[in-house]
Amino acid sequence: MKRIGVLTSGGDAPGMNASLRAVVRMSIHRGHRVFAFYNGYKGLVENDSAEMYNRSVGDILTRGGTIIGTTRYPAFQDPEIIKKAARHMNLLDMDGLIIIGGDGSFRGASDLSDHGVPVIGLPGTIDNDITGTDYTIGYDTAVDTVLDCIKKLRDTASSHGRTIIIEVMGRHSGWIAMRSGLAGGAEAILVPEIPFDLEDLCHTLESGIARGKKHSLVVVAEGVMSASELAHMMKDLVGFVANTVVLGYVQRGGSPTANDIILASRLGARAVDEIAGGNSGIMIGEVKGDIVTTPLKEVLAEKKLIDPTIFHLAEELVH
Ligand code: F6P
Repeated sequence: MKRIGVLTSGGDAPGMNASLRAVVRMSIHRGHRVFAFYNGYKGLVENDSAEMYNRSVGDILTRGGTIIGTTRYPAFQDPEIIKKAARHMNLLDMDGLIIIGGDGSFRGASDLSDHGVPVIGLPGTIDNDITGTDYTIGYDTAVDTVLDCIKKLRDTASSHGRTIIIEVMGRHSGWIAMRSGLAGGAEAILVPEIPFDLEDLCHTLESGIARGKKHSLVVVAEGVMSASELAHMMKDLVGFVANTVVLGYVQRGGSPTANDIILASRLGARAVDEIAGGNSGIMIGEVKGDIVTTPLKEVLAEKKLIDPTIFHLAEELVH
């Protein structure tokens, strides 16, 4: 029988609850005990925790967010704080900790691992910028949320003959912008990974209007610039008028898609067996349908960049 800890950390993502549920239910199914630390690493440092039971994770499978809370916890960069967290894990006689979060959370996990705490990372972030997994938990849902907004914005842009610039999340990556822009047939998609020329962008939009397009939609990842900055630059350069929408935190909420629920459940269940098997310092992901493990140090060594073939397909199909 093992004593397994679990926490959610960093920006929340739809599917985190499904992962938590899988960790709890599989732990109990395997005869282990499982304890949640509330509000990410803060709960670990302050020992704000509780044992979890099957009923503790009832009716959360299709709920967005995380019922055990999350934080961004900068204090966790202090070695003394990390040592305090490691001490708590020992005092609680824990056999390992499962961390559901993004790259920032994995840096904390790696530091904990360096202090002798067995850790397993699960990629829970809408950004999809994590190496070692094709998709991160929450990404599919966020893209669907943005696509729904694109469809609604296309209606009003078309009615008024307007151009709308839609700013989406992704921190420093363009995964959300690329996939939602392709699915939504955006006239232009701007991502941090691929430079763009402002004059070319304006020319693309103006020539589309000249060909009879009733509207234009531009999806810009926040890592490039804000929608309002882009609108101002377009107006200053060629007098092009565009409306702007910042989707913001709506991309982080919502009921997870089936893909995210199943991904989250598969990864959570495997994390239990890896921890119980004495493995540590790894992240669990899904690659080409298979559940695989990758050393955390490798995951942290490089971000997963967007697939340029998908990006260029969007450009080739828009006319
Ligand atoms: O990492 C997920 C994310 O939603 C990013 O896409 C975004 O830039 C960031 O979190 C926002 O951070 P916060 O929730 O702390 O404002």
